[in-house]
Amino acid sequence: MSNNHAWWQTNIIYQIYPRSYQDSNSDGIGDLPGIRQRLDYLQSLNVGAIWLSPINPSPMHDFGYDVADYRDVHPLFGTLADFDRLLEGVHARGMKLILDLVPNHTSDEHVWFQESRSSRDNPKRDWYIWQDPAPDGGPPNNWTSFFGGPAWTLDERTGQYYLHQFVKQQPELNYRNPAVMQAMLDQMRFWLDRGVDGFRVDVIWLMIKDELLRDEPDDPAWDGVTPHARLQHIYTADQPEVHDLIRQMRALLDAYDDRMMVGEIYLPNQQLMTYYGAAFDEVHLPFNFQLILAPWEARAVRRLVDQYEVDLPAGGWPNWVLGNHDQHRVATRVGAAQARVANMLLLTLRGTPTCYYGDELGMEDVPIPPEFVQDPPAVNQPEIAHIVGRDPERTPMQWDASPNAGFAAPGVQTWLPLSDDYAQINVAVQSQEPRSMLAFYRALSALRRDSPALSIGAYQSIDTGVENIFAYTRTHADERVLILLNFAATTHRLDLSRLGSEAEILLSTGMESTGKIRLRALYIVGNEGIVLRLP
Ligand code: NOJ
Repeated sequence: MSNNHAWWQTNIIYQIYPRSYQDSNSDGIGDLPGIRQRLDYLQSLNVGAIWLSPINPSPMHDFGYDVADYRDVHPLFGTLADFDRLLEGVHARGMKLILDLVPNHTSDEHVWFQESRSSRDNPKRDWYIWQDPAPDGGPPNNWTSFFGGPAWTLDERTGQYYLHQFVKQQPELNYRNPAVMQAMLDQMRFWLDRGVDGFRVDVIWLMIKDELLRDEPDDPAWDGVTPHARLQHIYTADQPEVHDLIRQMRALLDAYDDRMMVGEIYLPNQQLMTYYGAAFDEVHLPFNFQLILAPWEARAVRRLVDQYEVDLPAGGWPNWVLGNHDQHRVATRVGAAQARVANMLLLTLRGTPTCYYGDELGMEDVPIPPEFVQDPPAVNQPEIAHIVGRDPERTPMQWDASPNAGFAAPGVQTWLPLSDDYAQINVAVQSQEPRSMLAFYRALSALRRDSPALSIGAYQSIDTGVENIFAYTRTHADERVLILLNFAATTHRLDLSRLGSEAEILLSTGMESTGKIRLRALYIVGNEGIVLRLP
């Protein structure tokens, strides 16, 4: 399949939230040896790359996105030797491993920040963004944190504020000082030399801020809900200088063989596309989160897919995502009945799909009782916890029906509660059922892997005359595949005779229909998706 295509173009990327995948040492938190035990399972999903959310030492104020040491593994997750064994196991199965890299901020316990905050004349003072108080003693400007409250915290000892757009234990590095990028490149080298295949780069579009630290204007379109959305982030995000930083990171990757980076970027297409780099010398993939953010409606989804295809720069490789550790689970957002349709969409669109652990089972958000809520935005803003809280999509993987779902030994207190439905929705049960969500996912991912049209073919949307149906073809050489997705619960009859007289069903979401069907009178039942081979 890979003729002229790189591994990160043809393969499914599977995101693991390490705390929640597999606990091997009975502390209620997942770890690297646990993930290693599950490599055969991962291989059975036909995923080609695994992305691990951060595994570095961290005081866990943002569950690892506050890194205290970029060159080690948190003891909760294991050791560097455990990491090497995991990497070896991944590579032995022909898969790739991508690590999370968090360059925008460190933990306040990182030695760089400890030095920086120790005095105003410390040589690392300028590695972070320090400012004098405003004349009234308050923060230097009006910037806000994504997690609620101001983006500045006063350091009493030295009398200045430091910047943090997340929790106050995540001070932001100052990339206007070139020494900082040199240091970060060294941290990347450490893992590249160990053999990791790439990085998912955290908030890459925020890495550099306005030099003058100007106030941000109010956003007239503010929905009145999340405080961070009240301002237009024209000085904290997507600054022109960010591209030079990314080019430096890319140049490092290019000095190695076959490595990649995917950047976390929440921006509209026009700005998003600039992150490929004018000479394709920035990120390999700028994450495309539109399927997460859009209403689940066939016409809206068709419009955004078509527009994305138009907006992609020639030579830019597309990618799609349905969920991650920051977003409500897809099965909850679109409803259980649509979960298969959503996955069929993800795995049949043109471009690299990223799948969030558990979505292959149809795992849903788990309601978290108030005493278990741990995620900082939910803790800091209890009144909107149900919107901004991310614990519900981070609960333990559901392996089997035993107590603790096979995630942890029976009797162990797991770091987040398990879903109530784990006795039914789990890998063991679904592996036995020929038409389970898991069986469907495996069939779908195998179909994608084995079909050049699905993995690298051209995309073209099709008019069906029915507004609830999103239909498109994928074509490569003489292989033509038609995808029909019914976003509604009602049955529709379609006349697609202009595409041929008969087509062969390759897979349907219900996994019941097989054989040939007539395109003149094609029935698609509610919540059904069908992949067909056209003559
Ligand atoms: C984006 C990550 O995905 C999120 O989980 C984290 O809280 C912030 N960046 C801060 O690192």
